[in-house]
Amino acid sequence: MIEILPEYIANQIAAGEVIQRPSSVVKELLENSIDAKATHITLILKESGKKLIQVSDNGEGMSKDDSLKCFKKHATSKISNIDDLLKIKSKGFRGEALSSIASISMVSLKTKKKNYDTGNEILIEGSKLISNKECSSNIGSSFVVKNLFYNVPARRNFLKSDKIEYKHILEEFIRISISNSNIKLKLVHNGKEIYNLSIQNLKARLIKIYGNKISDKLLPINESTNLVNISGFICKPQYSKKTRGEQYFFVNGRFIKSPYLNHSVLKSMEGLILKDHFPSYFIFLEIDPKNIDINIHPTKTEIKFNDEKLIYSILKSCIKHSLGQFNIIPSIDFNVNTNFKIPNFDPNRKAYPPKIKVDPTFNPFEKNENKKNIFWKSVFKENIEEIEDLKNYDNFENINDNFFQYLNKYIVTNNNEGILVINQRKAHEYILYNNYKNKISNISNNTQSLLHSIELDISDQDRIIVSENIQKFNQLGFEISLRKKSISIKSKPLFLNNEDTEELIYSIIENLKLNLTTENPIEDFFCSKLAKKNSIKNGKKLNSIEIKKLISDLNKKSKDLSFYNCNIFSFILKFEDIKKNIG
Ligand SMILES: Nc1ncnc2c1ncn2[C@@H]1O[C@H](COP(=O)(O)OP(=O)(O)OP(=O)(O)O)[C@@H](O)[C@H]1O
Ligand SMILES: [Mg+2]
Repeated sequence: MIEILPEYIANQIAAGEVIQRPSSVVKELLENSIDAKATHITLILKESGKKLIQVSDNGEGMSKDDSLKCFKKHATSKISNIDDLLKIKSKGFRGEALSSIASISMVSLKTKKKNYDTGNEILIEGSKLISNKECSSNIGSSFVVKNLFYNVPARRNFLKSDKIEYKHILEEFIRISISNSNIKLKLVHNGKEIYNLSIQNLKARLIKIYGNKISDKLLPINESTNLVNISGFICKPQYSKKTRGEQYFFVNGRFIKSPYLNHSVLKSMEGLILKDHFPSYFIFLEIDPKNIDINIHPTKTEIKFNDEKLIYSILKSCIKHSLGQFNIIPSIDFNVNTNFKIPNFDPNRKAYPPKIKVDPTFNPFEKNENKKNIFWKSVFKENIEEIEDLKNYDNFENINDNFFQYLNKYIVTNNNEGILVINQRKAHEYILYNNYKNKISNISNNTQSLLHSIELDISDQDRIIVSENIQKFNQLGFEISLRKKSISIKSKPLFLNNEDTEELIYSIIENLKLNLTTENPIEDFFCSKLAKKNSIKNGKKLNSIEIKKLISDLNKKSKDLSFYNCNIFSFILKFEDIKKNIG
């Protein structure tokens, strides 16, 4: 039997499309203030917006009539006919944000229009008008949204921790701050001022958000064509990052996600950025609204370009041009000064034998477990382990001598079932993965304190990810302290060198970002990433000891050799099949 849903349920379902979490409210309210031509906007949050989100602006404000109408469905002042959809310059146009917000929270609005004596104050709860009265107010509007999803418990329970919800809000706030440097923007969270951004040019705004360091990294881009005007900054390729940090496209001032245009940026920097690194960019495209469609998704972060391919190539050549102009693309420069300063040799200078300080009290055979400097032991532990590993090289009694390497990629040998072909890279990866998993399960004995902690630059949003998951990092053997614009790594798993540490931390952050909703065990990711990195590569010639070691390690992993059968790194040409075919 078909039933028509009551209106309040239909509204809540529709609202869920636009308002998924506190950050969606922030985005919609800030965009409304921008559309109302505000030059000052203040965002106040309590408990990451779960308790309160307030946006106050000095924009055009609304009349009493409009302030009542704005919460109705399909209420908009931004378009009035279908043709207007082709010339949208405003951020909003669907007339659904405020009605959605009002259906799932408690909203109050205070607003006054220019040349009006009084303002109007409205209170709405779950779409119901509670009160409506005149009030004194400055010109502009102030929305207060309280207890989001109070009447949709399923949604409310779905919200993440305060830190993660705050991270989402920061993301929206930063996107809007970058694309509106002509607006004064303030963010206050739980009574603390987080950002106070004055009206400034784009570069100054980026410096204010990301700190002075970004100044030297930025490279301006600029291109005007009939189809599109491109401006903004890219970060020089040598500063590309191991996490997908600052990647911003704005089309007509609106932040959009575009894997296709991102690819164009990557292509333009081909050969200049390292594998697994992400370039940072703040790219603005101005394009006639009739050549794009933004009405694809309620959140308006996707866009369709009529001439996608052309924009792709214009963007690519624009970035290449800028890289060339600023000498980022390496070229042979014959004008480089080659007069290096070599210190003069002084034949009269006395030569001294090098001085070596010795501790006469040191006794290498002394057993003193209680020494304070105990971590020196752990520094050398890695080498000791390697040597122990080498001893096992004699221990191949079960391995026969029937093996050879084929195409520098496969190990061919036999067991009692038939002929075994093993992919060396995959097999080694499997061994390492299991070894790392073992070590992680006993991480307290496999952790090394660092003499000099490793400092990693990190964005505000990524810092939240780290602080939210600090426990998970500890379980992997990383002791991390959070600094203002960086994190400091004080200890790491013993089997990890410093270089890998940096890379691994960045990729764990990246992985945590992508898996915010699922509980993917991070140690699996960590171990497999490390195993991939350190495994023998295909194409490497192995000597007979190395091959024996590989086979022996595989055998150790499973006493029952039949596990080869089901594995992705090996297959067996069975003796019976050989017999069946060729007798
Ligand atoms: N801060 C504000 N100052 C002045 N007017 C506002 C403000 N916020 C909203 N309005 C008015 O309320 C109307 C409804 O806002 P709402 O956000 O629901 O829809 P929209 O912005 O037109 O479209 P969209 O749903 O795409 O955001 C707007 O069209 C605008 O006229
Ligand atoms: Mg709007």
